[in-house]
Amino acid sequence: MKAIVVYESHWGNTAAIARAIAEGIGPQAKALSTAEATTAAVANADLLVAGAPVLGFRLPDEKALANLGAHPSRAPAPPDLSHPCMRSWLAALPGGHAQRAPKQAAAFETRIWWSLGGATGAIERALGAAGYTSAAKAHRFIVKGAYGPLRDGELERARQWGAELAETMR
Ligand SMILES: Cc1cc2nc3c(=O)[nH]c(=O)nc-3n(C[C@H](O)[C@H](O)[C@H](O)COP(=O)(O)O)c2cc1C
Repeated sequence: MKAIVVYESHWGNTAAIARAIAEGIGPQAKALSTAEATTAAVANADLLVAGAPVLGFRLPDEKALANLGAHPSRAPAPPDLSHPCMRSWLAALPGGHAQRAPKQAAAFETRIWWSLGGATGAIERALGAAGYTSAAKAHRFIVKGAYGPLRDGELERARQWGAELAETMR
């Protein structure tokens, strides 16, 4: 079973969760940024897991990314803006008609614990529009502050979820 865990991440929290999910799925899984996850890489995968941070109560768009550098004094490091937002990446996914067979997918987000809104609803809608069926309920992983770090135990929970996804796909 081949799997791709594709992520958008500007301060590394979502990337770290994506790598832990891929580890949990097993050696056939790769964690790739939205810049690295090409159409060809995704077309070969039986399972696609897609994750992004919640920014401004929602799945960010390119305009939100453009604004991320606006508060540099509060951020511990400049945002990594080297890859497109998940919203744009999903919009460019080939539709269901382009897939040879229905594929499975799942969504996750990183966020602080008390926020309104979320990112996984928009990710799941886009995955559905591209012809994917749901492999699992969406997962949320929690950070301690606006820029991280991840709450203790979240990487382990991500590995565990990856292992469960692999089991579901058997
Ligand atoms: C500008 C900004 C806006 C944010 N807005 C929200 C929000 O609305 N809801 C939330 O739960 N977390 C919010 N967060 C926290 C991020 O979702 C969290 O730090 C996330 O893990 C960042 O992921 P990344 O390190 O992969 O970029 C915000 C963080 C920043 C910097």
